[in-house]
Amino acid sequence: MSEFEQNDVNMFDLLICLTKAVDLISHELENHHQQVAYLALRIAEQLRLPVEQKKDLILAGLLHDVGTISLDERLELIENEPLTAQNHALRGAKLIEGFSPLHHAADIIRFHHVPWNYGEGNFFQGNRVSQLSHILHLADRVAVLTGSNQNILGKVKEIRKAILSQKGRNFQPELADAFLEISAQEYIWLDLVYSPLIYILPKAVTFDTLELSLDEVIGLTGIFSNIIDSRSPFTAYHSAGVASTAEKLAELAGFSEVECKMMLVAGNLHDLGKLAVRREVLEKQDRLNAEEFNEIRSHTFHTYRLLELIKGFETINQWASFHHEKLNGKGYPFHLKGANIPLGSRIMAVADIFTAISENRPYRQGMEQQEVVSVLQSMVGDGAICPKVVALLLSNYELIDETRKTAQQKARYSFTVSLTETRKKSAILQIEEDSSVNFLPEDEELKV
Ligand SMILES: [Fe+2]
Ligand SMILES: [Fe+2]
Ligand SMILES: [Fe+2]
Repeated sequence: MSEFEQNDVNMFDLLICLTKAVDLISHELENHHQQVAYLALRIAEQLRLPVEQKKDLILAGLLHDVGTISLDERLELIENEPLTAQNHALRGAKLIEGFSPLHHAADIIRFHHVPWNYGEGNFFQGNRVSQLSHILHLADRVAVLTGSNQNILGKVKEIRKAILSQKGRNFQPELADAFLEISAQEYIWLDLVYSPLIYILPKAVTFDTLELSLDEVIGLTGIFSNIIDSRSPFTAYHSAGVASTAEKLAELAGFSEVECKMMLVAGNLHDLGKLAVRREVLEKQDRLNAEEFNEIRSHTFHTYRLLELIKGFETINQWASFHHEKLNGKGYPFHLKGANIPLGSRIMAVADIFTAISENRPYRQGMEQQEVVSVLQSMVGDGAICPKVVALLLSNYELIDETRKTAQQKARYSFTVSLTETRKKSAILQIEEDSSVNFLPEDEELKV
């Protein structure tokens, strides 16, 4: 019996995993999402808000910056709040609003950079801004001032002064007062810097009502995959292509319906750890130097450690995280060999390579069938990938390629709509502009 038939997956686990993944984009921002969730919760407690609002604030805190797709943009937010901050707030809300358990969190995130401006912040571009968004805004600014400062108690006075000086202008006075009240307690600051907040947050409110069915897990991890792919036009829609290819291969290999859905989830998440890889490295067209390749080699390790946080994801984690292991033991990061690599992981490896070389990228067109076949066969010849899975793919080539293309077009559509709505120059536009760029030879190590 599969894990999914025994127990559902807790949404909180999944969100913690996502938030930790997004925080991997920069070491300087480590813990930022959790800190914001924690502070928002403490302010809400001080205001005696109802439990449902506290839950939504925690969820919003954990996800509030998912719309920041580049490191530059994230670092800029540490320093100050540029006017463009509204863009990532809108984009973040757009990314998650379609998933109904996160609908309220999306509403909070949408306006988390709107200044209070002596009451004008009750509205933004004609839309009502809820007090919860203002709480998130305040929590975000305090977390930015806190960082990972080991001497935090020595900084409290300065932080309180900074918030007080912005009372009314940037922060709603009632909220600033609530913060000034709670911030006299040392434990709050010590928690922010020293405590594993992922264990503290769910104790404050019960999240056991957030059990997700497998179909809901597919919906939520589809959002993960959009976030991973949207970091760079070079990887746009890659995860969607891998997920659908792997699901189809699993079906052809005789996996059960539940297992095929699990494969789709694993495909959505397989490159989650790529959030730790710098964008320049993801986008480099020349051969990677040793240091850059080290960065790439770490991505499946991160995927593995992140997915470990989710109870019930043991099999999915193996299928997702072993996609760069090779049958001959020359893969990474575990150097698994032969029979130690489960069939699901072998399928993922083939789906990943197939998608990477077939999909169009800004600097080159995808390979034609003949070329794809020869790449896969030579990798089989090297003892790298599974001959049976490759044979399955080659004998169903059109069907699988069609499945991949359709999934990628669908992802492209939803991504374009979301970005257009935020009126942001989008990655997809760049792809269209750059699509005439000539094909460059692949590196020895395929960038997949
Ligand atoms: Fe933000
Ligand atoms: Fe990968
Ligand atoms: Fe990949």
